[in-house]
Amino acid sequence: MILMAGVPGFPSNQTSLNPAGPAAAHIEHTFALIFWITGIVYCLTLAALVYFVWRRRYTLNALPEPRPTTGESDHFATGAVAGAMALTVLLLFVMLISSFITSRRLGNMNEQQALTIDVYGHQWWWEVQYPNDAEPYRLVTTANEIHVPVGTPIRIHGTSRDVIHSFWAPNIQGKRDLLPGYDTDVLMQVDKVGRWRGQCAEYCGLQHAHMSFYMVAESQKDFHNWMTAQAQTSIAPADARTVHGQQVFLTHSCVLCHTIRGTTAGSLVGPDLTHLASRSTIAAGMLPNTIGNLGGWILNPQALKPGSRMPPNQISGPDLQDLLAYLETLR
Ligand code: CUA
Repeated sequence: MILMAGVPGFPSNQTSLNPAGPAAAHIEHTFALIFWITGIVYCLTLAALVYFVWRRRYTLNALPEPRPTTGESDHFATGAVAGAMALTVLLLFVMLISSFITSRRLGNMNEQQALTIDVYGHQWWWEVQYPNDAEPYRLVTTANEIHVPVGTPIRIHGTSRDVIHSFWAPNIQGKRDLLPGYDTDVLMQVDKVGRWRGQCAEYCGLQHAHMSFYMVAESQKDFHNWMTAQAQTSIAPADARTVHGQQVFLTHSCVLCHTIRGTTAGSLVGPDLTHLASRSTIAAGMLPNTIGNLGGWILNPQALKPGSRMPPNQISGPDLQDLLAYLETLR
């Protein structure tokens, strides 16, 4: 399995075979145990089959001669069957107990000190909020990118805004379904700095396959800096071009669905765009966040992600250029 994770092209940042935290490590151990037990039993069974077929290969065409069974061969057969049954039951119990211990360990993580992050599943993107009870006006809201400090217990407090989704970052923790109208908590911790890719793991409609996210694990310092920057309202446009770009945003249908904190745009239908340019992807991990992709996405999202809630937009070339220039400043 370590070999598999080392194959070129094998995405090591989206696999349960390369754990980046304790929960995924427990799951990987159980998986390895079950893999080796079932793999060895399978090979032994096939080897026995091949051996007996090979030994009897010349007599397969002839009908066996009826002969009285001897007590000795009966005893051997009974013993072999009983032994195989006992071994099977034993191995099943080993796997059962291992799986039980793993689920106990997953539930026994440090809940008291956990950093809570609210995650809402939408068709087809992830809304992410960092609650801040002390300063509610500094609430951090982002989308499809969950920044976490390494070595810190995290509580993902999840629910769905529409249909059933499933939150799954395989390097970090097992799957957890997000159900509309029902809150669910899942504890996890990331011990390695990196960008860990996650994916919706419950079929939720046309663009289920394009509902991914990144868990960005950073040092405490980097995480703190990120949170401080994200808590700010958006950067005010500084030149004529971006001032006009903001006007385009606020006078077109963008404003009906999106929030840019610090402006009059405050709708909660689509992702919060206050710090859009700080994110590495758009459309829930589907496209790199480049100016070209953003322009194509704004004009005709249905061509890129059919069924998405974002409608096509009629914006003239110069207006679009200014709008993009403005969005690029939203770091
Ligand atoms: Cu959300 Cu599949």
